[in-house]
Amino acid sequence: MTSSTGDDHTEHKAWWKSAIIYQIYPTSFFDSNGDGIGDLNGIASKLDYIKDLGVTVIWLSPIYKSPLADMGYDIADYRQIDPRYGTLEDWDRLLKGVHEREMKLMMDLVVNHTSDEHEWFISSSSSKSSPKRGWYIWRPPRTDNKTGVPNNWKSMFEGSVWQYHQETEEYYLHLWDKKQPDLNWENEDVREAVWDVMKFWLDRGCDGFRMDVINVISKTPGLPDAPITDPGEEYQPGTNDSPLSPSLSYPYSSRILLLYLLMNSPRVHEFLREMHTKVLSHYPTITVGETPFTHDPNVLAEYTLPKNNELMMVFPFELMHVDTPLAEGKPQGQATGNKGEGEVVAERAELMYREWKLDELKKIVEKWQLLKMREGYWSGVYIENHDQARSVSRFGNDSSDELQVHSAKGLAVWHVSMRGTCYVYQGQELGLKNAPRSWGIENFLDVASRNWYDKILEQRRKSTGEANPNMDDIMEGIHMKARDHARMPMPVSVLWSSSPNAGFTTGTPWMKVNDDYERWNAASQVGNDDSVLAFWKKALRVRKEYEVLVYGNFTLLAPTHQQLFAYTRKMRNGTVGLVVMNYSKEEVVVDVPKDLTGLQEGGEGYNELGLRCVLSNAGGDSEGESLKEKMVLKPYDARLYISTQ
Ligand code: GLC
Ligand code: CA
Repeated sequence: MTSSTGDDHTEHKAWWKSAIIYQIYPTSFFDSNGDGIGDLNGIASKLDYIKDLGVTVIWLSPIYKSPLADMGYDIADYRQIDPRYGTLEDWDRLLKGVHEREMKLMMDLVVNHTSDEHEWFISSSSSKSSPKRGWYIWRPPRTDNKTGVPNNWKSMFEGSVWQYHQETEEYYLHLWDKKQPDLNWENEDVREAVWDVMKFWLDRGCDGFRMDVINVISKTPGLPDAPITDPGEEYQPGTNDSPLSPSLSYPYSSRILLLYLLMNSPRVHEFLREMHTKVLSHYPTITVGETPFTHDPNVLAEYTLPKNNELMMVFPFELMHVDTPLAEGKPQGQATGNKGEGEVVAERAELMYREWKLDELKKIVEKWQLLKMREGYWSGVYIENHDQARSVSRFGNDSSDELQVHSAKGLAVWHVSMRGTCYVYQGQELGLKNAPRSWGIENFLDVASRNWYDKILEQRRKSTGEANPNMDDIMEGIHMKARDHARMPMPVSVLWSSSPNAGFTTGTPWMKVNDDYERWNAASQVGNDDSVLAFWKKALRVRKEYEVLVYGNFTLLAPTHQQLFAYTRKMRNGTVGLVVMNYSKEEVVVDVPKDLTGLQEGGEGYNELGLRCVLSNAGGDSEGESLKEKMVLKPYDARLYISTQ
């Protein structure tokens, strides 16, 4: 039941819940030596900018030695910094700078897989009798199918998950690129080696980890074929988050353990508890698990419930799929699939875009906001990272500079008023948008974008007989959804101005900078009170000031309204936060008693709460005002009220 003196999350208070975490994608943050690639010294030189924003923890995407087949998520040596980013001494200096400013530093822990250039894999692939053979997942060719591949699983980056290794005549498993072989977590030596890597960084002073695709480290025993959900495709996704056919039997009774082939599989919780016992419990750490492909909240909750002693929080992915079509929305030539109770859900076409409706988005937000609050479930709240396109282009409106500024600020209001730890991705605080539609595929460098494009191109060449079939729909999708958008060099330094390449580098940037850098850069926003940056600073101050935004219970108001996004956050002590946002291109008139009925449930009417606006993108005049019975919200207006009673 909703009540102004209802439930909240305060019995599970912790410093890291109110942390403001800023994600840096090192390659694109700031280049200090003119080679076109961002580096550790570049980051170290911008710490004041980050601190000034209100950040308390920095998370660095990988900076370890890597051939960069997947931009550093393919690690060749966990204990070395890639020379492109600097040296271990540079890292020590960076850490010192972070700590001197009373911030913390989290590293990316990528241990589902290594690079094929890691010495562990070089040894493992050297012969079948290598002592490290069992560190990876090797299988002999199958004799009962045409191709010999050990199963039909599809790689996240297209094609089979199996790569044949000529010299030893076996296949190895790679859920992502073939240069990212999966480690075999069943092998105890692998786990011990991972614990050692973690201790290496923790002993050096690192404050915690973001754990890459941590829910896929355990695979279903026997690696059974995935059900055919895409009949037109040679390989099938093993990532459906619906129950598999009951005919496949597994030796586990818990429902949680039954459902998946490659994520959330049987031993994952055991492994994470072992990690906790052997490593995490000995250090004061902060941890967040990246947990894709999982929309079932109960499954995800298991990773963070305090009673389980695993991780502090996870990143749910469902919101990131609100604009992703299921297979039926796929381009022609792709298979169809059904979604229904108990049926297997077809693959999502990650790089295609579908129009979403506000009530769909709100439903997803509500589901995760309400999840197991009493038991202590905790999310990392994000709408951007290095795997997602820019939020203002997906969830806001970037059709003019004015709307871009306004809707980016509106998104900030939403973002800072969610239960969960707040993550901000570099450039989000500037309201940066996607690359323009005029960019051709040659400007997109990410392996995911390229492989997807090439796969469809090849299929269309075959089916049409044309050398240059029409790829407009694919480019539309890439334009909206590609990971590349977040990876463009950041126009952020003090230099970062309208100087060539947005001041990111004095050399040639590794990737093209966005066309709009002369207008959209950090230098032009620092010191400008109307900028998106100034608004984010204020929003983060407000977030820190009002505990209700971190711990308060969430109640969605006006759930079916297609323009209005409104909710309350309530504390047991009676504090109420109210967020009212117009998520549309048209003006909305809100009749508070009528449209926001939930606000008055459980006792006092809204006017007794003394709600006062503490954050508004409509400018100074609405801040400080008390809630009126009627309000007129212009497109993307967003306001946050806090009770004073
Ligand atoms: C995670 C990373 C992504 C990477 C993948 C494989 O999803 O965030 O960038 O491609 O894992 O490591
Ligand atoms: Ca550099």
